[in-house]
Amino acid sequence: MTDTATTGPQRQTAPARLDPHLLRTDFPILSTVNRLGKPLVYLDSAATSLKPLAVIEAVDGYNRAYSANIHRGIYEMAERATGAYEETRAKVARLINAPDPREIVFVRNATEAINLVAYSWGRRNIGRGDSIVLTEMEHHANLVPWQLLVQEKDGDLEFVPITDDGVLRPEVFEVLLHLRPKLVAFTHASNMLGTINPAREMTEMAHAAGALVLIDGAQAVPHMPVDVQAIGADFYVFSGHKMLGPTGSGALWARRELLEAMPPFMAGGDMIREVHLRRSEWNDVPYKFEAGTPDIAAQIGMGAAADYLMGLGMDAVAAHEKDLVTYALDLLPREVPGIQIYGPAAEHRGGLVSFNLPGIHPHDVAQILDRSGICVRAGHHCAMPLHERFDLAATARASFNVYTIPEEIDALAVGLREVSRIFNR
Ligand code: ALA
Repeated sequence: MTDTATTGPQRQTAPARLDPHLLRTDFPILSTVNRLGKPLVYLDSAATSLKPLAVIEAVDGYNRAYSANIHRGIYEMAERATGAYEETRAKVARLINAPDPREIVFVRNATEAINLVAYSWGRRNIGRGDSIVLTEMEHHANLVPWQLLVQEKDGDLEFVPITDDGVLRPEVFEVLLHLRPKLVAFTHASNMLGTINPAREMTEMAHAAGALVLIDGAQAVPHMPVDVQAIGADFYVFSGHKMLGPTGSGALWARRELLEAMPPFMAGGDMIREVHLRRSEWNDVPYKFEAGTPDIAAQIGMGAAADYLMGLGMDAVAAHEKDLVTYALDLLPREVPGIQIYGPAAEHRGGLVSFNLPGIHPHDVAQILDRSGICVRAGHHCAMPLHERFDLAATARASFNVYTIPEEIDALAVGLREVSRIFNR
């Protein structure tokens, strides 16, 4: 399977190139140093991204100038807050080419979005003996909510296996579809292997078998053009904090008729039209799924992040990160003797590299790199079954974003040689 699923309107013209050195000045944190005076080399963007000034100022602007609640007040400041919040919905819709901003439900993160679908759609539509097809490369957020659902409903989970190179096995996916699953849920881009899955082809196959499709786009939306209409998915989820936005922001996109048919996930203010002592009527979508006062500032910040990314051009972002991962996959094995790198070749992956140094625990690797100001994640990256698949307890991971420069990958290589020297002397 090859990925043609990320083509969107932006693909019509040749991609402009990013100037990552120039845009680094948009990220104030990049001019800081650690306790030893070393400049920050941030290679943990898959855990959370850094925030540009435009996002910081959007959050600050709300808190300083118009921090009223939304959808409630009729005074000017409240209307301004509601306007900014709803404008974010339109910006997020544009970023993923959703046909209608009312199909964007704001959530705290991709995890909450998946829980929403599992709880609301899942409890209505999954029954005894029904199966849900996942993959072996899912992050816990796209696994545990489905475990809870099938435990409660007496359903089944099936898993598309992966090859030793870290790509899904389409021939097994095809066989699993003969089980007529109700849902296929898979990650668009793996947070450990970097693998980019062929979302459109998988969606077409799932639909042909009568299943709905949920795609976890947490590691895709920040890094490449995503067009939910071209993919044809039913549900698509992502977090704001990995796409240069604030923590506490995120979105679920779903087809309108699905959202209309789904019962609420959480109950309370704003998600109702009428409340009586013994019964209530629900608000229209998407408000039906947004109970209580949300993190208004964070969502407005997510809108600024969407603008920032669209301003760079997602084709340019994807090309930059492809260059980085190609560089890293070439440099690290040459410069760091014995390094074991997991996942597919550059053409099938996004901007991250998980690795191990022989005989050295990844926590030790991360700790020693930290002395040089280099931040990598070490552990199972919330993907324990995937590590088990490769018989690994843990890995170290370097992950990139728009502000990452090749010099930081050079610094990683130097840092890893130093780790090896310390452990092998
Ligand atoms: N899912 C995030 C990561 O991969 C937290 O680090």
